[in-house]
Formats: sequence, C-alpha cells, structure tokens
Amino acid sequence: TIPIIMDCDPGVDDSIALMMAVAAPEIELLGVTTVAGNQTAAKVLLNARRLLTLLQCHVPVAGGNQTPLLEPMQVAADVHGDSGIGDVVLPEPGWPAATQSATALMAQLITASAVPVTLVATGPQTNVALFLQLYPQLKSKIRQIVFMGGGRGIGNRTPVAEFNIAVDPEAAAMVLQSNIPVVMAGLNVTHQAQVLPTEVQAIRQIGNPVATVAAALLDFYADYYLRPGMPFKGVPTHDPCTIAWLLAPELFTAVPCQIAVETQGRLTRGETVVTTTGITSENEKGKFLAHLDRLGFVQLLQRLLAQF
Ligand code: BDR
Ligand code: CA
Repeated sequence: TIPIIMDCDPGVDDSIALMMAVAAPEIELLGVTTVAGNQTAAKVLLNARRLLTLLQCHVPVAGGNQTPLLEPMQVAADVHGDSGIGDVVLPEPGWPAATQSATALMAQLITASAVPVTLVATGPQTNVALFLQLYPQLKSKIRQIVFMGGGRGIGNRTPVAEFNIAVDPEAAAMVLQSNIPVVMAGLNVTHQAQVLPTEVQAIRQIGNPVATVAAALLDFYADYYLRPGMPFKGVPTHDPCTIAWLLAPELFTAVPCQIAVETQGRLTRGETVVTTTGITSENEKGKFLAHLDRLGFVQLLQRLLAQF
C-alpha cells in the first residue's frame, strides 16, 4: 500500500480526491491536514471533518495557519461557494479535530511511519513549506510530493498563475526547491480530467451516500465551469488527478522535469516554470503530468465511488 497524508483545502474537488483516497485499497490514508485556500482555515477544517465523518474514515485531521506566508489571504468563494463545498450538506463532524497544528500532525505521522510517506497536496503549499522548514530532519522520510497546482503556459487566477500557487507563491517556491521528488498535476492535465454531465448522472445513479454527494459537488462545480464562455464540455476535476496518478499512472503521460516558481514577476508572479529539455536521471527533480486518458480517469472515479 501507499501511505499518504492529504494536505487539502476542501474544496469541491479536494473532497472528491479524499473520497477516492479513502475508497482505494492501495492507499493508506494516515491523516488529513487542511490549509487555507478555497475557503478560510476554519471552514476547510470543518469541511474535512464532515467529509471524513461521511466516509466513516477515522483518521486524525488537523488545521493549518490562517494565512499564506506573505500574501494576504484570498479565498475562491466564486468557485467553491461561501461554505467551500458549494450547496452540499454534510453530516456534523463525528469526532474532534486533532489538537496539534497541521505541521505537527504531519511530523507525528511521518515519524511514526515505518516507510517513507507520500504527501498529496491539493491546496496552497503553505503547510508543506512550513513543515519542511520546521522539520528538515524528516525530509528523507517523504517519498514524494504529488501536488495539484501550476500550469505550463496556462493559469486560472491570472493568465499564467494557477490558484494554489498564486495564493502562496513563496510556499510553492520553497517546496519546489526542497529537492524532494515532485509530481505536478497542473492545469495542463487537470483540464483534461473533465467529467461530462452524463457521467455525473451515472455517478448519481450509483446511489450510495458518498456517490450522491460526489454528484452534487460536481453539479455545483458545473455551475461555475460550464457557464457560457467557458471552454469545457465537462467539469475539470483538478485535485482527483493526484490520487489517480498514484493509483493508475498508466493513465497519464509523465515527463521528467524541473519546476521553479516565479515569485518576482510583475505580471507572472505565481507562474510555474517547467523545464523538460536537457533533463537526465541526474538532474531530474520530478514529473510533469502532460496528458491524461480521460475516459480511463472517469471510469476509475466511478469504480472507486461505487466502493462505498
Ligand atoms: C485548484 O484550486 C482550487 O480551487 C481547487 O480545489 C484546485 O485545487 C485548481 O486551480
Ligand atoms: Ca484544492
């Protein structure tokens, strides 16, 4: 099995990624940490606790800082609603959050693990950056960081910056300079992870409580992503690409790369700069996910949601 910690900001698509991680027998979810992003730190923590209650997944969950490292906080209520999970109603949390901070919980779980742990980061990288600063001695116990963020020549907050990186560019720059192997699921691939309205309907028809919530989340996303003028036929489900990569890498084209974050640019702050030429096994820093088998991805999602 693949031991993971999910650092997320649920978040419509974060929630679906979490469902997939819990459903997959190949993944061992050690814990969840939340980061201010799609909504405030308090709201995303509450959403994560409610989701884990729905999923009956009793793992520790801890919340992170109120704000990014330097940037003032900016939430994505336009995409994820005032609650962070749209108009979807979830059960009240069945148990308390962990008493320690997100970074302390990461440290505890990573220390306790017999094998190196994969960090899955589907929000701004504030927690991960702080963790690496606070616990450098635990770096060697991180197998890899699989993150949703960035894009190559494409953005959604600015023409070149994606939300998770734009919210906290300094954090992402620190993470990408850490020399820990990374896998980048950026907009280039997540925009291919489109779930068509007929496929959302098929998810709803699975009929279990989790699939029903997933369909409602995707419906809420559709109000934003499928509105007139948007270039999509289905809703791009960004964050689930991270879990899909862990479960079914054969669905993706992964290109060896180096990635840097522009933090200075007047027009380009928050851009991920992905180098794919001249990469050898010596200087490779990670993988850039370039292409996705869309249908295979949707079938994986449906298969996992049917587990509940
Ligand atoms: C990313 O930003 C958030 O709104 C989503 O949850 C996803 O992680 C997409 O740019
Ligand atoms: Ca997210």
